This record gives sequence, structure tokens and C-alpha cells, in this order.
Amino acid sequence: MSKKASAHEHIQLLLDEHEEILAHMKELADWSAQLKEKGLPKFGEMGTRVNCFRDLLAKHFENEEQEGYFKPIFDESPGFCIMVPDFHKKHAEILCRIDEFIARSKKSERPFQSWGEALQIFDKLLTDLRAHEDQEIKMVQEAFNQSAAKETKF
Ligand SMILES: [Fe+2]
Ligand SMILES: [Fe+2]
Repeated sequence: MSKKASAHEHIQLLLDEHEEILAHMKELADWSAQLKEKGLPKFGEMGTRVNCFRDLLAKHFENEEQEGYFKPIFDESPGFCIMVPDFHKKHAEILCRIDEFIARSKKSERPFQSWGEALQIFDKLLTDLRAHEDQEIKMVQEAFNQSAAKETKF
């Protein structure tokens, strides 16, 4: 039973970590929406913010790709195992797009056609990342509910 309790705790940690990532994404999305409204280009600040987020996200992806990270999820719902190769591919793709975006923002001469274009690319990145994270959160949430249901049975 104690093993079950720790698996449940592990799943709780996964949920907490995802909540943290989502909070950062929301902050970035709010900031970008504000700037869009004002029409104020802030390439420098955008580069700095995206850079900080990139580090956090890379750490998150690294955790997720470690063996055992999603283990309690697969114990609860073995069917989720087949999604892992897709996750790895998606992580690499998203990081690559973020890196391209950062590299582009640093160019001194017109890094983007317009500030609007930069915001558009950035929003699309966040939307795609959000879809990926939502998929994971759904998976973790389901396993959490299952393990919680089992816990109450004991
Ligand atoms: Fe992921
Ligand atoms: Fe994630």
C-alpha cells in the first residue's frame, strides 16, 4: 500500500510541475496579448523572456524523457506508453522552433517583417506547446484519478 501511496504522490508531482509550466506559458501569452493591443514592438524583451522560458521548458522536457518519470502513469494506464515516442519528437520540434525564434530575434536587421509577424509566430508556438502539454496533463490527470480511486479502496 505504501508503494501505491508513493506512486500517487509521484503523479501529484507531475501535475504540479505541469501547473508550473502552464503558469509560465500563461504569463507569456498575457504579455504578448498586451503588447499586441498596444502595438509596441519589444524585440529585446521578447528575446530575454523567451530565453528564460526555453531553459525552464528544456529542463521540463529532460525530466519527462527520463526513464521512470511517467512510470506511475503507465502502471495505471499502460495504453499511454505508445504516446511516448511522439512526445519525444514533439519536444525536439518545439525546442528547435524556439531556438530558431530566439536566433531570429537577435538579428540586428529586421528580424521579422513586422512586430505583428513576430507575435504571430510566437503565439503559434505557444498554442502548439499548449496542445502538447494539455495532452500530457490529460494523461496524468486520468492516472491520478485512477490511483486516487484505488487509494480510497484500501
Ligand atoms: Fe512533454
Ligand atoms: Fe509536459
